Amino acid sequence: MPYEFLNVDVKDRIATVTITRPDKLNALNARIFEELDQVFTAFATDRSIGAVIVTGAGRAFVAGADIAEIAAHDAAGLARLSAAGQAVFMKIERLPKPVIAAVNGFALGGGCELALACHIRVASEHAKFGLPEVKLGLIPGYGGTQRLPRLIGKGRALQMILSGEQVDAAEAHRMGLVNVLATASTLHDVALSVALQVAKNGPLAMARAIESVNDGFDRLADDAMAVEARLFGSLGATRDMAEGTAAFLAKRPAQFTGE
Ligand code: COA
Repeated sequence: MPYEFLNVDVKDRIATVTITRPDKLNALNARIFEELDQVFTAFATDRSIGAVIVTGAGRAFVAGADIAEIAAHDAAGLARLSAAGQAVFMKIERLPKPVIAAVNGFALGGGCELALACHIRVASEHAKFGLPEVKLGLIPGYGGTQRLPRLIGKGRALQMILSGEQVDAAEAHRMGLVNVLATASTLHDVALSVALQVAKNGPLAMARAIESVNDGFDRLADDAMAVEARLFGSLGATRDMAEGTAAFLAKRPAQFTGE
């Protein structure tokens, strides 16, 4: 399907989604949100895709939500905008296959929040992370006030949110905001190798692992353990589990089919 602002390339079961609005540093307008929603809806059930990489064209990953669009909204409109954007990023976070952000440049505001909604973040030395909404008289509205504290801790998250200042890739890595550091020239290959490495594991196990982490994260320990046990148990009825364990015992690589 052709998209106006996304380039989608699929190779070796890895889909790379490149946000392509470089003249506006890939700022997320309403159309980009719609297109992200469409493409991630399609990925969820596309068995030919094992993992997804999200990146940006040009010198930015995403420099935020489109400030011109934001400025045109009243209070009710902003609340709707926030809820709609949150739903799209929730879809990314809940995709039943790994999503890797390859952060090539500015990941500010909604761009930082997009990276936070991905499961794993790889960053080049040009990456800059920040939630500068307070400088606009706003707060992060696409999950940033919730995902960032859960990822790096409340104190460090509040410092980023209240200062609006950017942190570079090395600092973001030290904070635990970035999983893997790369360079501009190796970013795609590093993200691809992370994607290929996870995509060779059982698709059903990937899906249930993501579900277990997401669903269990904010529950009390006993409830969260029950979620894990239920999902762990559900894999006992799958061919992938029979194949994975049999392959280990036979000392051969597993051939997962996602059944
Ligand atoms: N929304 C809309 N347009 C944006 C944008 C955003 N979030 N971020 C950048 N742009 C546009 C600029 O308006 C400019 O457009 P123009 O050439 O038509 O004037 C173009 O992208 C290039 O940006 P520019 O500011 O000229 O680049 P820079 O290198 O001087 O600065 C940034 C880069 C990222 C520091 C700066 O663009 C910026 O602060 N952007 C906004 C970040 C932000 O507040 N994000 C949160 C939004 S809620």
